[in-house]
Amino acid sequence: MLFRTFITILFMVVLSCKETAVPSENNATSKSDSTYFREAYRPQFHFSPEEKWMNDPNGLVYYNGTYHLFYQYYPGDIVWGPMHWGHAVSRDMVFWEHKPIALYPDENGLIFSGSAVIDRDNISGFSDGERVPMVAVYTYHDMEKEQAGRSDFQTQGIAYSLDEGETWNKYINNPVIGNDSIRDFRDPKVFWHEPINKWVMVLVAGDHVKIYASPDLKDWTHLSDFGKEQGAHGGVWECPDLFPLTVPETGEEKWVMLVSINPGAPNCGSGTQYFLGDFTGMEFKSDQQETRWLDWGTDNYAGVTYNNTPDDSRIFIGWMSNWNYARDTPTEVWRSAMTLPRKLELRTTDDGLYYVSNYPLEQFNTNLGESKEVLVNLGAGETATSEIPYLNQSEVRFTTSPGDFKITYRSGEDVLHLGMDAAETIFYLDRTDSGKTDFEESFGAAIHTMPVPDLPEEFEVRILTDWSSVEVFINQGQYVMTAQVFPNSPFGELIIENTGDSVLEIPDLEVTKVERIW
Ligand code: FRU
Repeated sequence: MLFRTFITILFMVVLSCKETAVPSENNATSKSDSTYFREAYRPQFHFSPEEKWMNDPNGLVYYNGTYHLFYQYYPGDIVWGPMHWGHAVSRDMVFWEHKPIALYPDENGLIFSGSAVIDRDNISGFSDGERVPMVAVYTYHDMEKEQAGRSDFQTQGIAYSLDEGETWNKYINNPVIGNDSIRDFRDPKVFWHEPINKWVMVLVAGDHVKIYASPDLKDWTHLSDFGKEQGAHGGVWECPDLFPLTVPETGEEKWVMLVSINPGAPNCGSGTQYFLGDFTGMEFKSDQQETRWLDWGTDNYAGVTYNNTPDDSRIFIGWMSNWNYARDTPTEVWRSAMTLPRKLELRTTDDGLYYVSNYPLEQFNTNLGESKEVLVNLGAGETATSEIPYLNQSEVRFTTSPGDFKITYRSGEDVLHLGMDAAETIFYLDRTDSGKTDFEESFGAAIHTMPVPDLPEEFEVRILTDWSSVEVFINQGQYVMTAQVFPNSPFGELIIENTGDSVLEIPDLEVTKVERIW
């Protein structure tokens, strides 16, 4: 869908660039300025670019004490345009430092999504004899070819950096994978696979994933395809990832394939599904019948995981938006943010069902501040209201059992409701009256629901609210919803309501301030 409207959007982008003609350095405030990162709706503990448009996370790789976050970036406007790779780094995945743009479009095209690897043994030959190459593998999107009505406009290219992502050289024989007329052929994720002693790449081709292998990151052989007949197919497949996860208690291993899809997500627009299966080194096979979603919210898209993490932990970051309205959200200097970095784990329900959980990294807790306990002991229909000045930059956390409750974040007339309906076995997120919603038709149109059929007797509910987002983690990431929200003024009132028939008692509800990271 993105590409059907591509030419129109680009045309609009070019027009809007001409009209606004703002030199990029004029828009961002500087770090020494007290207004830095304080604009309306600016996330205070999530990553966002200093200015202009951002979409997918790209090239997630750890090296030498640093987590790199590259991302789809258009430095010319706050709507999507000719893609570059922006760059940021973090030592702890809590605090981020913005870096200069890493990859610029070239004669092969715009730089679409992709991944990065550390070529420790210099198999690519890109090293200067001393320094280890960081190699980016990405999609080239050739606008001229697309405009000429051809379908071979997406190819795969590589670039390398010998200074830890500061400066980049494009490979002279790009592209490394050409195109036999596949319209949507993009988003390579590459990883080293020891058993076959090769690099493996997954990338999407419209409605399925293609798997390739290479000895040196330059010559690629097609191995197999996955997914034509499996999973959700309500839209084009994008941004795949493939990696193993192990159940901590038993040591059992399963391979996980992530595939983003747009449109076709459960609550409208863009979303990310996953498959559990096995990777033979040739093929990914999954006997999964049902469609599984990593996150049931509307605003977690194109997420992928880090390569080369120190303890092999699987860390995921998603783009906290949705193609339905990504270009329309009411921010002015920049547009969109990333989800919190989340740890992916393979877990089992009490009935032995495997699932992938996603939950904020442990080190996120180091950034928590003052806390307030809220006593909840409510008869049927009763409510408890608390004024909390830092509510819109907070964590709400408690333990409960499957039941009926509603939590409302309020600011004047604006309300965000989150709740559980035990009879329906669902959790819901209702942003229909949450403030600015009419910038696009679907944004405030419906209540978002998430089936929660396999919860244990007791589980944690954890809600992280930043100035324009909410992330809900049920049972430590078994069920997750992420959504953007734009109240007219910051939420300051928390209302807990017993929507069931019996007494609702929550002895441990705490509202904790999350400190700003900028
Ligand atoms: C996903 C996506 C990718 C593509 C990129 C372009 O959001 O459409 O498939 O590479 O964005 O910016």
